Amino acid sequence: MSLLRFLCSAALLAAQDREYKPKEEKIPGPPIEQPIAYSHKVHAGRLGIKCTMCHTIPAASDDGFRATFPSERTCMGCHASIKKDSPAIQILAEFAAKKEAVPWKRVYRVPDIIWFSHSVHVKEAKVECATCHGDVAQRDVLFQEKSVGMMACMACHAEHKAPNGCDTCHSSQ
Ligand code: HEC
Ligand code: HEC
Ligand code: HEC
Ligand code: HEC
Ligand code: HEC
Repeated sequence: MSLLRFLCSAALLAAQDREYKPKEEKIPGPPIEQPIAYSHKVHAGRLGIKCTMCHTIPAASDDGFRATFPSERTCMGCHASIKKDSPAIQILAEFAAKKEAVPWKRVYRVPDIIWFSHSVHVKEAKVECATCHGDVAQRDVLFQEKSVGMMACMACHAEHKAPNGCDTCHSSQ
């Protein structure tokens, strides 16, 4: 069934003006150097802070696309006192004082034309973060561990009998 589906998709794709060429992804990707040496292994692993305390996953009715990044106030809730003499925390405190978001470099990205919702996957379909992002709580520095290319999306949709028509992810709206 899924092979047939794949062949149908391939035929459809060939018929498009712009043929689908898989996005280039090197997996595992290189470690991404961030403006502040923040560690998931320390915060989510050792300290056991829940993923959704920092990545709030807004409801679908309220722009459920993003996972979101934590505001500097979330960090300063602890770091106004913890390790405040550390050079890394001083950089953090400067951003917080200016009320400026830390310019975190992105690890996972799909093009803006793609309809992808965290809320649908995490809250409705109950997919674990680790299925799409790997064992984040064990990483000091993040890197791309999983594909977010079209073939990976479609393979999981086929497995879960989720919709796989082109306009599921490529909305014509
Ligand atoms: C619930 C409290 C808490 C929150 C919230 C928190 N941290 Fe931490 N953070 C800690 C603790 C505790 C340590 C020290 C761990 C250790 O003993 O090494 C730490 C360590 C660090 C360090 C290493 C400092 C050093 O020089 O050793 C950095 C950098 C850091 N945190 C950045 C952040 C950032 C950025 C955020 C927000 C995204 C954040 N933290 C949110 C508690 C917190
Ligand atoms: C204390 C706050 C905090 C907690 C708790 C936390 N994160 Fe993060 N997360 C961050 C910050 C800050 C960044 C940006 C820096 C980086 O990429 O390491 C980030 C980045 C990410 C990214 C990369 C996003 C992208 O594409 O650029 C993923 C994926 C992620 N977190 C998943 C998780 C998961 C899964 C958990 C729970 C196991 C978790 N995070 C817990 C603060 C947090
Ligand atoms: C079904 C796969 C999937 C699951 C499950 C998933 N993510 Fe993501 N995540 C993605 C994709 C795809 C992107 C890139 C989205 C984009 O570029 O718009 C992404 C991007 C992110 C980002 C970057 C910032 C943002 O707001 O989009 C963070 C942070 C993140 N994910 C954290 C998490 C956390 C935490 C969980 C679990 C609570 C989680 N993700 C569950 C696929 C997933
Ligand atoms: C680990 C499995 C998995 C991965 C990977 C995955 N999805 Fe999904 N997706 C699901 C499931 C399960 C549903 C829920 C289907 C339902 O309940 O109708 C879903 C639902 C959706 C929906 C809503 C469909 C609808 O009309 O209800 C969209 C859009 C979507 N996914 C896009 C994507 C995109 C884009 C990617 C890749 C970046 C992706 N998904 C990766 C499992 C996955
Ligand atoms: C489950 C989600 C999903 C479905 C279903 C899906 N796509 Fe995609 N598509 C993506 C994602 C994510 C990307 C961007 C990443 C990549 O290029 O692999 C993409 C990229 C593309 C691109 C390249 C776009 C560009 O600007 O480079 C084309 C062309 C395309 N898709 C056509 C199709 C056609 C035709 C179908 C129906 C047979 C389809 N897609 C079904 C998720 C999906």
